[in-house]
Amino acid sequence: MSHLIAPSLLASDFGNLQAECEMLNASSCDWYHVDVMDGVFVPNISFGTPVIKAMNKHTLKPLDVHLMIVDPDRYIKLFKDCGANVLTVHYEACTHLHRTLQAIKSEEMKAGVALNPHTPVELLEPLLEDIDLVCLMSVNPGFGGQKFIEKTYDKVRALKAMIVEKGCATKIEIDGGVTSDNARALVDAGADVLVAGSFVFKSSDPIQTIADLKNC
Ligand code: DX5
Ligand code: ZN
Repeated sequence: MSHLIAPSLLASDFGNLQAECEMLNASSCDWYHVDVMDGVFVPNISFGTPVIKAMNKHTLKPLDVHLMIVDPDRYIKLFKDCGANVLTVHYEACTHLHRTLQAIKSEEMKAGVALNPHTPVELLEPLLEDIDLVCLMSVNPGFGGQKFIEKTYDKVRALKAMIVEKGCATKIEIDGGVTSDNARALVDAGADVLVAGSFVFKSSDPIQTIADLKNC
């Protein structure tokens, strides 16, 4: 199966979310990547469930919600109710990660775990079979438009080897600084899902840019 493209709406025009969603509906993207930031786990605040609910009225594809918040367990049901299909929590924000993953799955969502750039993929080894998606942060979370951290390639390869060895179906997502310069190499290293914010929304033809990332 070819890789998936998940444009990050963090870089979209918040004053025109309906049009941005309609543009994505017409594009070859696979998921919408939705970044929730609480100003505590990361030094920035983005938007929350009321905005996602409004957005979801205009979307036709799965919502991939990336929670950059402390204590995500408190909000799992709320994100289900506003339309999340994949719900990703940060390893660094969860004291009882196994319990959190079970709670996400019990709401019939796919369960994702995001790792900050400094967090080794080996820490997920005991739980890998329980994780639908690992989101490898290739920038420090909190802002769009940052430079891709090259060390990410080693993490993708190491994680892919663990997944193959265990024979599990966990997908690898890359989030931050993805462009057409690194997309192919990331897929070759084992990435299944590419998130792209600025590269898509700041381009002169986002639909074409998404197609280029899809066909890289
Ligand atoms: C960063 C977010 C990313 C961000 C990616 O904290 O998790 O999803 O929107 O943006 P770009 O593609 O601009 O690096
Ligand atoms: Zn993200």
